[in-house]
Amino acid sequence: MPENVARESLYLTTPIFYANAEPHLGHAYTMVLADVLARFWRARGRDVFVVTGTDEHGDKIAQVAAAAGVAPKAHTDRVSGQFRAAWDGAGLRYDHFVRTTDPQHQRFVQKILADIHARGDIYFGSYRGLYCYGCERFYQERELVDGRCPDHGTPPAEIAEENYFFRMGAYQERLLQLLDDRPDLIFPDGYRREVLGVLREPIGDLCISRPKTRLDWGIELPFDDRYVTYVWFDALFSYMSPLEALGRMDLWPSVEHLIAKDILKQHAIFWPTMLMAADLPVYRRLCVHGYWQVNEGKMSKSIGNVVRPGDMKARYGMDAFRYYLLRDMAFGQDADFSEVGLIARLNGDLANGLGNLASRVLAMQQRYFKGVVQPRAEEPPDAQLREAFAVARRSSDAHVEAFAFHRALEEIWRAIEQANRYVTETAPFTLAKDPARLPRVGAILHELCEALRTSAQLLEPFLPETAVRLAEQLGFPPPRLAELDLPWGQAFPPAHRTAAPQALFPRIDAPPD
Ligand code: MSP
Repeated sequence: MPENVARESLYLTTPIFYANAEPHLGHAYTMVLADVLARFWRARGRDVFVVTGTDEHGDKIAQVAAAAGVAPKAHTDRVSGQFRAAWDGAGLRYDHFVRTTDPQHQRFVQKILADIHARGDIYFGSYRGLYCYGCERFYQERELVDGRCPDHGTPPAEIAEENYFFRMGAYQERLLQLLDDRPDLIFPDGYRREVLGVLREPIGDLCISRPKTRLDWGIELPFDDRYVTYVWFDALFSYMSPLEALGRMDLWPSVEHLIAKDILKQHAIFWPTMLMAADLPVYRRLCVHGYWQVNEGKMSKSIGNVVRPGDMKARYGMDAFRYYLLRDMAFGQDADFSEVGLIARLNGDLANGLGNLASRVLAMQQRYFKGVVQPRAEEPPDAQLREAFAVARRSSDAHVEAFAFHRALEEIWRAIEQANRYVTETAPFTLAKDPARLPRVGAILHELCEALRTSAQLLEPFLPETAVRLAEQLGFPPPRLAELDLPWGQAFPPAHRTAAPQALFPRIDAPPD
């Protein structure tokens, strides 16, 4: 690509996570998706930018901090640091970490609020309503289940107060039109239909302030210092405030938000209407994934079944954890997390499938040729192997583009299995007993080294550590992985040496008690 041609950009966001509890499996899953997509598209030449961060205002955080006897900011400094450390420690990369307590973010939100207020889309009114502290929002009677919050199961408190409201209802028609004009705005389609269902009823206006008499931990309204901003009106703009601060607003038109279904309404209804009111373009796509459950129930501190990404990494390695998350959840649907399931994937697909292939091939390469890769001489089974990897590449790329990560991995493993069968069928270990057949043994191993090289390359977005280790064992120390995108048969020049095999994955017997 000529250097003066601008690369196509992709701005990916994860939700900014509440700074009230430590990072868990659910948060980690969204981060893994962002990391996979960023690596995948970067390797294909796109200018990718990833933002994650922490959501630090609101009742819930003020309450947790008060219960711990610390100032809210001291509390969020600590928890925000835990999130950052968790992602850094897990190799989950981001380009910017935003905090809603960042001064530039707060100024940005105030500027937008002043703008929308000046246009007449924010008005003052009195309100009596049913408020759930857990959700930090008012509920309409018909949304409750047996008079209780559908998420928390607690009865909401009746609150009467004067507040500021955003004329969200005024944008309902425009939002419907937008969903009609851009059928891929919300993905997968089931969530789009859910949103259309909500839009069949009037959405009403949105209360966007909290009186300081009740809550003072938030961004002050620029037009009334007795109030702070409702946490969602503050948090959603964290997707944009860093771009302005970094001078990268050019990225905005390419924004794709990754979220789970729990915050669909805020992202599919509040957020686009807020953007319309601020006269800003609506995101390119909202990508909605399902929920990880544990033993078919919710993960919660009180049940004691919270899965911590750091524990998973320590027990099984980050790549095995990533593989399991990507392989066992179909994007958009819910899945049940089980350590037994993770171990089965680790021992099966990873250790027996890929690990075994790598160790057999590299051991034979050492034993018969001291690691030196021999010339190719293609015979029919070799062409089939090459074709299997060509198919894996084409179909796994198409699946990633469609967010079917589990299918992409399935396709790559189909080729890896074929490579294991090719070893059994061509039987180089038997041929090697006859010195006259050694050239064929060398050629077979060359094909297999190509199979491993292609696997490393295809797997890089999903299993980055493994890809680097495998490439290293093949004799390509980092950062040469990106240079390995070569036609089959051209990666190993004469006299190229592979290294001695080292197990890629440990086999594990059972989860700890
Ligand atoms: N702070 C808001 C988001 C504001 S975005 C402008 C929030 N935070 S959260 O900490 O509750 O994170 C919710 C997100 O965490 C979900 O949308 C999802 O990305 C991830 N997950 C949390 N639990 C999850 C599961 N059990 N399963 C899958 N992902 C989930 O909402």
